[in-house]
Amino acid sequence: MKSSKFGLVLASVAIGMFGWNVLAGADESGKSDAFKPVASVHSLMVAQVDYFKGLGKLIDDPDAPKRMKDIHRKAEVLAELANVNTQNNKAADYQAWAASLRDDAMVIAKEAKKKGDADEAVFKAKFSSMKHTCGACHEVYQ
Ligand code: HEC
Repeated sequence: MKSSKFGLVLASVAIGMFGWNVLAGADESGKSDAFKPVASVHSLMVAQVDYFKGLGKLIDDPDAPKRMKDIHRKAEVLAELANVNTQNNKAADYQAWAASLRDDAMVIAKEAKKKGDADEAVFKAKFSSMKHTCGACHEVYQ
């Protein structure tokens, strides 16, 4: 096959797959990309502050039982709440703050997976960064 023709075949396969994904509302992971939050931002925030405070307590308490497991779970749920929140406003700054909160929380979750090898400085730095992000978004949107 001539290379130009091969390129054309590849391009149409790519377009076909893209079209299918749009129709199916799915990306290559199989998860929906047509997501719309159903809860109010208010309820989301009440949960967010619970998880945020809970996470802070665990980070400050090296003797907490099942500490790494709980840090991991709490950070992941906080990340998901923030992930949902990226869809609650079309403004770029709002989305960037929500995404930043999500990404910081995921760094904490991944660090906690290392258990005994987890770097406590990462927990502290990302927690402080998240606190800053809460305030930045609230200053404009709360
Ligand atoms: C991307 C923007 C954004 C980020 C980031 C954000 N918030 Fe909010 N938050 C809001 C908005 C908007 C409201 C007002 C919602 C409402 O009451 O309708 C709010 C309200 C709140 C409230 C008040 C709820 C009440 O009872 O009135 C709390 C508590 C709260 N946020 C906690 C947090 C915490 C903790 C963080 C960080 C871990 C955070 N938020 C990060 C947008 C954000």
